Amino acid sequence: MRRKLTLLLFILVFVNCRKQPAAPTGLVVDKAMVVSAREEASKIGVEIMKKGGNAFDAMIATEMALNIAYPFAGSIGGGGFMVYRKSNGDVGSIDYREKAPLAAHKDMYLDSLGNVIPDKSTVGATAVGVPGGIAGLMEVHKKFGSLTLEEILEPVIQLAEKGLVVTENQARRLDYAREKIVEVSGDSTLFSLKYVAGDTIKHLALAKTMKTIAKEGHDGFYKGEIAQKLATFIQEHGGYVTEEDLAKYQAKWRQPIIFNYKDLKVISMSPPSSGGVTMNQILEMMEPYDVSKFGHNSAKTIQLFTEASRRAYADRNYFLGDPDFVDIPLDVLLSQAYLEERMANFSFEKATKSSELERGNIEVIESMETTHYSIIDQEGNAISVTETLNGAYGSKLFCGELGFFLNNEMDDFSAKPGVPNMFGLIGADANSIAAEKRMLSSMTPTIVEKEGKLWMVVGTPGGSTIITAVAQTILNTYEFNLSMQEAVNAPRFHHQWLPDMVIFEPEGFSPELKEELKEKGYIINEERTPIIGKVDAIRVLSDGKLEGGADKRGDDTAVGF
Ligand code: GLY
Repeated sequence: MRRKLTLLLFILVFVNCRKQPAAPTGLVVDKAMVVSAREEASKIGVEIMKKGGNAFDAMIATEMALNIAYPFAGSIGGGGFMVYRKSNGDVGSIDYREKAPLAAHKDMYLDSLGNVIPDKSTVGATAVGVPGGIAGLMEVHKKFGSLTLEEILEPVIQLAEKGLVVTENQARRLDYAREKIVEVSGDSTLFSLKYVAGDTIKHLALAKTMKTIAKEGHDGFYKGEIAQKLATFIQEHGGYVTEEDLAKYQAKWRQPIIFNYKDLKVISMSPPSSGGVTMNQILEMMEPYDVSKFGHNSAKTIQLFTEASRRAYADRNYFLGDPDFVDIPLDVLLSQAYLEERMANFSFEKATKSSELERGNIEVIESMETTHYSIIDQEGNAISVTETLNGAYGSKLFCGELGFFLNNEMDDFSAKPGVPNMFGLIGADANSIAAEKRMLSSMTPTIVEKEGKLWMVVGTPGGSTIITAVAQTILNTYEFNLSMQEAVNAPRFHHQWLPDMVIFEPEGFSPELKEELKEKGYIINEERTPIIGKVDAIRVLSDGKLEGGADKRGDDTAVGF
């Protein structure tokens, strides 16, 4: 009898624990928060909200500040996506992804024999797509801003003029890229110099560019003197972007991808990002299973996630592209019947072989050169933004006069079907190059509701690993009851159909676990990438407070009040 009572008590405590959300371990604040790649940028976003600005005003300030604090991925010369959920429950998203210039065409990166010309889509002016960053921010301001542009940009311009202290991580990144930056941009630009941790970098040219934007908005960047200087600069370096390309660029409001996973409602980015569609497929393929019972990062969880990812990435690479140019069969790709059928040959006994699932054989190189930030304001508006230059410091082409790096986003197109891009992703016709087309992305800015209420804002950089890192962070919190900070810190793994390998972060997975997976036919790789993603997220706690998850893998910081 006593034993039965103890067992009953144990079951009750266990069930109760499973229902109680994990206690927070990250920064907890009452009202509003920004989590981004640098403390200085998070602080500026928070300052704007303290002044009475909303999450959208804070977005503009944070993203502009990241151009100074994190030029590695600053969107003024690049682009991004934002997903929002307003306090009244309205959701939406904006696409300010770069576009191919008017002069672009399908074979522009191929030589006379039809081979991909090395570096042409990744390094220097030939790799540059038409930047969308400022168009996106100005469009957000027009629709949702509550403060004036001058008010929003004032602290950012001050930061640019006062300068920013270089961190150890930044010094290491700059050191790594310097040789290429000098090769592409010459030896007399701001980033040709050698910096060590503790040095201060002032961004005076960028401050001047920002002052014009503060006064003139969208047209201040895309028309007139800045546009003329930018187009001339890119063309003098051999690139294709013209004044006409800049004048024609417009950001686009898009319907996000919305789906349920058990009792969660997930709101994420739609094409030309593959993030929402691919995560929808992965989570829907996992939904029939009692994942929480398998255990966090257990062999069964890793197998199930890997097999769902394998099937989803195979579809991603074949079907997805810019919806303004290609028809994507979303109704089929996201239907329950199709996804059940995709998983019909999955077994916990043995790995599926990617070569038997679909095409190609490729190499992967991961990188972290995008950045993500999450914001919730005091009214409960939430925004999730991932922005990018693509590679580290983009094309390495730094426009000294205007003060920013230009993207190498043209590499996110499929230069030739079957040939991998810098993320090892192969593409098909759906993502081939065409004038004014947007290149396919993996960026996955996401907002999650639980029981109809705002629950999480989440996203990450990491190229092709973005989608799996975001999905794992949601599962870590929902299925395995980790706090926001624990979910962000937890070790991650990745599979993307091809190459047929499961990539593990080197720390955090036991040799026994890897041995068990190898025995089932999984190829394990721990050398490819020391870190998978740098997730910046916010969880709304049951008492309405906010818990930040700022990734320990970088200088990422949560700030709030
Ligand atoms: N440039 C990385 C991405 O958009 O996925």
